[in-house]
Amino acid sequence: MEVRVFCPATIANLNCGFDVMGLCLENIGDEMIFRKTITKGIEITNITGADLPYEVTKNVAGVAALAVIENTDIDFGIAIEIHKKIKAGSGIGSSSASAAGAVFGVNELLGKPFSKPELIEFAMKGEALASGSEHADNVAPCLLGGFTLVRGYHPLDVIKITSPEKMYAVVLHPHIEVKTVDARAVLEPTIPFHKAITQWGNLGGLIAGLYTQDYALMSRSLQDVVVEPFRKHLIPHFEKVKEIALQNGALGSGISGAGPSIFALCEGKQKAETVAVAMKNEYSKTQIPFDIYLSKVNDEGVKII
Ligand code: HSE
Repeated sequence: MEVRVFCPATIANLNCGFDVMGLCLENIGDEMIFRKTITKGIEITNITGADLPYEVTKNVAGVAALAVIENTDIDFGIAIEIHKKIKAGSGIGSSSASAAGAVFGVNELLGKPFSKPELIEFAMKGEALASGSEHADNVAPCLLGGFTLVRGYHPLDVIKITSPEKMYAVVLHPHIEVKTVDARAVLEPTIPFHKAITQWGNLGGLIAGLYTQDYALMSRSLQDVVVEPFRKHLIPHFEKVKEIALQNGALGSGISGAGPSIFALCEGKQKAETVAVAMKNEYSKTQIPFDIYLSKVNDEGVKII
């Protein structure tokens, strides 16, 4: 009759994989509750932690939930409670957590007609409402866990890569809001050939490094010559924090999703702790309040709690 769901935060792009790569975080995430009701349809009954619309067709979770039930024979209704912990416009997949949580929770109440990979396309409908584009690089890792690669969009082809054992992520979230739609508007519609070559070489290298647990190869590959040069100006003190993270031994560092969060990937918890302290000290020099998280890669994704 009722399920309570944990909807994890995610890091999209991972430098070289704009709109195709992502990973799932542990312990940072929203909670959602789904209840069967007699009245048919989807209803949002409670939202805490954010000022979001209750109108189903204007709410990311509502739109994603509708996408699932429109593809099933359902003889009951569903009431949804959304308890946001991930701030909107933070760059760690706030809208995706709502979308992925919604499709997962609704699917559970329906008796699981869809597999987790099948739910990705429904979740993308919610993501599209938030950002104006149907990308899956946050919803895929949120649903599947681990690292995910969107090999193709038409048709959707998502590959999950189990995280290397010692992979940790540090995320620094400056308390400014960057809307995904704005961060996409600063990008150039075409990229020079030599930059494309660098980028796809690095993406191949990152994937090979993940499969072989070759941290040095992953480190060489965690570069972004396509998107970061245009977006870095949207994030105060970005370059300095990235430099400090790398100096302190991070494998790579960059903009998390559309920003403003800045991430660093590290081999081992001890290294991640050192990097987190260094990033924190560096950002404390600004007047901008921030949060900092340290997380292992979450290999499970969205789940019932
Ligand atoms: N790939 C997306 C972007 C993720 O960077 O615009 C943010 O939703």
